[in-house]
Amino acid sequence: MSGSLFIGLMSGTSLDGVDAVLASFDARGLPTQLARVSVPFPDDLKHEMLALNSVGNNELARSALAANALARVYAAAVDQLLNLAGIQASEVLAIGAHGQTVRHSPAQGYTIQLNSPALLAELTGISVVADFRSRDVAAGGQGAPLVPVFHAGVFAAGHPRVVLNLGGIANITILRPGAEPLGFDTGPANVLMDMWCHMRTGHPFDADGAWGASGVVHARLLRHFLDAEPWFSLPAPKSTGRDLFHWSWLESRLTSVCAELNLASQPRAEDIQATLRALTAHCATDAIRNYAPDAQDVLVCGGGARNAALMQDLQALLPCPVLATDHAGISSQDVEALAFAWLAWAHRQGVAASKPAVTGARGPRILGACWPA
Ligand SMILES: Nc1ncnc2c1ncn2[C@@H]1O[C@H](COP(=O)(O)OP(=O)(O)O)[C@@H](O)[C@H]1O
Ligand SMILES: [Mg+2]
Repeated sequence: MSGSLFIGLMSGTSLDGVDAVLASFDARGLPTQLARVSVPFPDDLKHEMLALNSVGNNELARSALAANALARVYAAAVDQLLNLAGIQASEVLAIGAHGQTVRHSPAQGYTIQLNSPALLAELTGISVVADFRSRDVAAGGQGAPLVPVFHAGVFAAGHPRVVLNLGGIANITILRPGAEPLGFDTGPANVLMDMWCHMRTGHPFDADGAWGASGVVHARLLRHFLDAEPWFSLPAPKSTGRDLFHWSWLESRLTSVCAELNLASQPRAEDIQATLRALTAHCATDAIRNYAPDAQDVLVCGGGARNAALMQDLQALLPCPVLATDHAGISSQDVEALAFAWLAWAHRQGVAASKPAVTGARGPRILGACWPA
């Protein structure tokens, strides 16, 4: 096999689990994907990592234990990948492991991803590159998004294009021929929808968007969601996470809309779900219209690409085609994990993976640190 083998492990804000890919990279950093797996988080780990997003008792010790548990799930994903591909651990140059974000506060100079790269290296016998965001934050940047340079490598076209990642949070990459990529977070993607869906139906997410599609968008509530949140009107570069879009964000807005509209009870649960979906679609398409009105297509990745109702909303709000990245050769479920394999490749190559135009940092930086095998 030609090229160098890397593994990417991505576990994002949604807390759904780990997406893992094994890929070989050529000298220019272009990937050929060899295998992929998704490993869901055990319920207790998911709940603990969710709890660690908020202030709580004995956080330091609990974080260390959760990080070790996460490393064990990561190691299981690596093991499955190697078995699927028939590859030995010794053939893989490095794993790029994102870790689990529990705080993201670049304005205060920190971002925290729970991770235990030392344990992951120990369990797998493979070098681990991790802690990708902190150097960019130290250089005055947002530490996010880190994927635009990778998106440019694999999705650049002969025309202006936007890549929209719909994970827990949504981020866009703007690609124009001959120009540096741009990118920033646009707001919630699935995080609020998942919260509401779980609260009202017991399901972790709204499969295919069917429940939300049975409801009707509540126009006043949507307006209130958009108007009452100053973050939406901040200029790029910007990033966000569960620090802002948490349960009380949603609860307080539902309460104030009911008071404002003099409603004795909340809108129907499915209407709220439809409205949260519309919020995701509006935030993303407003950003695209404002920053990339020349885009000739929008490629969507992340779990939100599987929400048919959300994809329809996006298409209804944009004049250009909205397609899953599968149409450009990479499964929408694998783009972000592949990006973290690329970030490990970039670290090993000494390639600066961050762009000041994206994160607002003082300059490009080599991201991550390596825990050798
Ligand atoms: N079949 C589906 N229908 C609707 N939404 C889905 C589906 N599959 C996944 N999702 C959504 O995608 C989310 C996971 O997306 P992902 O890209 O992994 O996000 P993150 O990077 O935050 O982990 C889930 O929490 C869920 O909201
Ligand atoms: Mg995920």
